[in-house]
Amino acid sequence: MRPETRAVHVAAEVDPETGAVAPPLHLSTTFEHPADSTLIDGYLYQRYANPTQDRLERALAAIDGGSAALAFASGMAAGSALLQNLPPGGEVLMADDTYFAFRKLAERFFARWGLTHRLVDMTSPDAVAEAIGPDTVCLWAETPSNPRLKVTSIAALAALAKPRDLRLVVDATFATPVLLNPIALGADVVLHSTTKYLGGHSDAMGGALVFAERGAWFDAILETRKLQGGIASPFASWLILRGIRTLAPRVRWQSESALKIATFLEGHERVSCVHYPGLTSHSGHAVAGREMRDFGGMLSVEVAGDRAAALRVASALKLFLNATSLGGYESLVEHRESVEGKGSPTPANLLRLSVGLEHSDDLIDDLAQALRQV
Ligand SMILES: Cc1ncc(COP(=O)(O)O)c(C=O)c1O
Repeated sequence: MRPETRAVHVAAEVDPETGAVAPPLHLSTTFEHPADSTLIDGYLYQRYANPTQDRLERALAAIDGGSAALAFASGMAAGSALLQNLPPGGEVLMADDTYFAFRKLAERFFARWGLTHRLVDMTSPDAVAEAIGPDTVCLWAETPSNPRLKVTSIAALAALAKPRDLRLVVDATFATPVLLNPIALGADVVLHSTTKYLGGHSDAMGGALVFAERGAWFDAILETRKLQGGIASPFASWLILRGIRTLAPRVRWQSESALKIATFLEGHERVSCVHYPGLTSHSGHAVAGREMRDFGGMLSVEVAGDRAAALRVASALKLFLNATSLGGYESLVEHRESVEGKGSPTPANLLRLSVGLEHSDDLIDDLAQALRQV
């Protein structure tokens, strides 16, 4: 089955009780069980597992080609549970353009979890090979990265990770399972902020881990989720599962529009740089062409000028709303340096665009009028 078909049909069985085609939403926090609760073979308590979330997890595993998936309350909850189950004393090599909250998490929490980290340019397999040390236990990649759209070869990282027994984790939030399947390229775990494209409507918070194999690491992370409580709520699970049903056409449409927008911006006199892997001028174009099915709906643009010029453009946009997050049906713009705060390595003139489902000509008109104001 092709990914588009899988996204529609997996975990979509008709409700046996009612014949309902749309899945039931089970809100119950507790489930009846035998008096001896060691005999349970179904559900016990919502924080452990629940039927709506189970459907979502089956869908997530199937669309990413994994053996099993775990759904969480957010992408950060998913990543934290995973990182807390790395061996103490271990070093995590992180992509230098990793989503800023994971970089912050590493700075603030890794020491408490007995971990260390170093930032590496993961677009260069040589730089990664050189950085791997005796304590390295995990490569944490993100591709395309947020916000500079840096593209990492998962196959190249897997070739480094496998012989050294390192765990390869890939945050594929920007790419989605429609465009990139890291497990097929050798990753051990894929992370998604399901808040973004998988939900697709900016109305549900969630995160997911998809595992190549269901082994001891999976069990440990499941236990962490049970005890720390970062589980996906049934309603969020239901909304994200609904989002998965339309994921493929949304992402295809958004990718098509993003390429048109990037091409328009690349030729614009008031733009100094466009970060979009679909452009042949992008350093990651060849790798993305090999490992992804299309280039995605995210791009970043550096306005010719300073921070104030970028802010003027963002403020003048009418269809692109100034708001954080991404992957919804609506187009968003964000001045990343402002949201990342003090110490942000993101260029001050950079605006990140999440291309929505509007017509690309209208979005280009909007950008054209905003850029005239610089
Ligand atoms: C690439 C990436 N990974 C992870 C996250 C964290 O996800 P969440 O906000 O659902 O916790 C985000 C959020 O923006 C993200 O962009």
